[in-house]
Amino acid sequence: MERQFINSVTRFRVTQLLLITTTLLALCTTTWFGVGAATDQELVRGFKATPDHSISSFQALLRDSAGNYSLGFLRVNRTELSLAVVHVPSSEPLWFANMTRLARWSDSTQLFFNGSLVVSDPQTKVFWSSNTNGDRVWLSNTSNLEIQKLDGSHTILWQSFQFPTDTLVENQNFTSAMSLVSSNGLYSMRLGSDFMGLYAKFNGDSGSDQIYCKHKALEAKADIIEGQPIYALLNPNGYLGMYQNGSAPVDVQSFNSFQQSGSGIRRVRIEPDGNLKGYYWTGFSWILDYQAISEPCELPSSCGSYGLCQPGKDCSCLDNRTEHNSGGCISPENGNSGDFCSVYDQKYKVFRRSGVELPYKELMGSQKMASLERCESACELNCSCWGAVYNNNSGFCYMLDYPIQTLVGVGDLTKVGYFKVKEGVGKRKMDGRLTVVIGLLCGLVLLFGGVVGIGLYRISKRKRGIRGMWTRMVG
Ligand SMILES: *[C@@H]1O[C@H](CO)[C@@H](O)[C@H](O)[C@H]1NC(C)=O
Ligand SMILES: *[C@@H]1O[C@H](CO)[C@@H](O)[C@H](O)[C@H]1NC(C)=O
Ligand SMILES: *[C@@H]1O[C@H](CO)[C@@H](O)[C@H](O)[C@H]1NC(C)=O
Ligand SMILES: *[C@@H]1O[C@H](CO)[C@@H](O)[C@H](O)[C@H]1NC(C)=O
Ligand SMILES: *[C@@H]1O[C@H](CO)[C@@H](O)[C@H](O)[C@H]1NC(C)=O
Ligand SMILES: *[C@@H]1O[C@H](CO)[C@@H](O)[C@H](O)[C@H]1NC(C)=O
Ligand SMILES: *[C@@H]1O[C@H](CO)[C@@H](O)[C@H](O)[C@H]1NC(C)=O
Ligand SMILES: *[C@@H]1O[C@H](CO)[C@@H](O)[C@H](O)[C@H]1NC(C)=O
Repeated sequence: MERQFINSVTRFRVTQLLLITTTLLALCTTTWFGVGAATDQELVRGFKATPDHSISSFQALLRDSAGNYSLGFLRVNRTELSLAVVHVPSSEPLWFANMTRLARWSDSTQLFFNGSLVVSDPQTKVFWSSNTNGDRVWLSNTSNLEIQKLDGSHTILWQSFQFPTDTLVENQNFTSAMSLVSSNGLYSMRLGSDFMGLYAKFNGDSGSDQIYCKHKALEAKADIIEGQPIYALLNPNGYLGMYQNGSAPVDVQSFNSFQQSGSGIRRVRIEPDGNLKGYYWTGFSWILDYQAISEPCELPSSCGSYGLCQPGKDCSCLDNRTEHNSGGCISPENGNSGDFCSVYDQKYKVFRRSGVELPYKELMGSQKMASLERCESACELNCSCWGAVYNNNSGFCYMLDYPIQTLVGVGDLTKVGYFKVKEGVGKRKMDGRLTVVIGLLCGLVLLFGGVVGIGLYRISKRKRGIRGMWTRMVG
């Protein structure tokens, strides 16, 4: 007994040792970040590259003159590939090619330049293409990926600065035709006629976006002329400026490092939590320099769906019978999207919570209603309504046409929330499983019946045959 135990321990040690050695070997033979001085500074027609399976993170293909930025293959989810521009010292991605689908990190995937910069593979064909007819690909020392015509003045046919992903860098012109989208696809930043807005896609592609943060131009240095679009620039002096025409900004959102002299670079990014943050590169690390939303509870969904955020406290749930965990207050498979309008989605439960309000209520549409009951019934009768929050002091009724997100806890108990929770989705899944089981059972019965039937048929045929023989013999 004891011996067996020791044996299993040594066996464990041996396997462990093997594991450690192979891991070490693997680490030694793979390159984490493949950026070298040998990387090209331009790509000309005929250029081709495939991903190197020994590189575990980033494979550089093109660098800028100073070696601060690089274009290359970035590994995503271990087996997939994206084309990205990264800041080399921090390996922070600044731009991604907007692929319809990620390519695979395999020999069949290829990046080539034939006038267009193209990511393709034999099966899917083209994942992404710049659709140009240029002469070379160039990465500027400001991280702009350019496809140029070599006509003496290096005319830019295409540039990554016109197709930002979630990040803006210094002096990148952000126009009202563009948007920054967070990596999870939930949040975006866009410009309005005279403001900068942050929007959330709480109901997927159905339903409209909800604005949750709006910065209106203060027009301190210049007035806004109506009907003319504005644009935004991250100024190297440490502010996010809005401009119309002319060099005087119509608005300045200054960063902590405003007008501080230093050689570091800056970037702003819309984060997966919906905040817009500014960062400053010190030469060693990126430090947080600005955030559009500084109070965690003011974020659009700080505690997830059906969550409750109370300043200075941990996240909890709107429904006090539910416990908040890492997955939030509601399981995602509980049909947390769409509305209650189709026959399949009509079932829901209702619960209420007092002392709550919406974090961005001033940006929400509201209707004045005489009482809490009126507000609730307006929501109850409307199948695209997920919930309503009523303020008894002002009489405002806020209706939500997307799944309930996080609300903020307030002391005023006359502010009451009414919430619908989808029900019956799990049941439907069960029904589906039941159908399968019943189907299988039916199949089995049929099969059994068939076998028995064939058997009986054969027996009866044989009997008939024998009888036939008899009659023939007798006859
Ligand atoms: C990177 O850019 C900074 C200026 O932002 C410059 O001082 C530095 O020399 C560049 N090159 C490298 C390799 O860091
Ligand atoms: C990326 O592609 C999708 C679909 O092809 C499109 O809807 C979206 O606007 C594109 N984004 C950018 C930043 O170009
Ligand atoms: C480059 O290759 C793509 C994909 O094969 C093709 O659609 C495109 O016509 C080519 N462009 C030129 C200029 O040959
Ligand atoms: C970047 O390139 C421009 C010319 O294109 C040059 O004037 C500037 O000094 C360069 N900056 C750095 C940091 O290398
Ligand atoms: C930014 O783009 C807008 C619209 O294309 C243009 O009017 C403006 O002059 C540009 N600003 C800069 C500084 O490039
Ligand atoms: C939950 O809230 C209800 C009313 O809002 C209250 O009556 C009940 O005591 C609360 N339960 C717990 C466990 O806090
Ligand atoms: C709401 O306000 C009305 C008067 O405006 C008042 O009579 C009522 O008691 C209030 N309800 C609550 C729950 O405070
Ligand atoms: C139902 O609610 C939605 C969103 O709150 C609103 O746009 C729509 O007009 C409402 N419909 C009715 C019939 O009130």
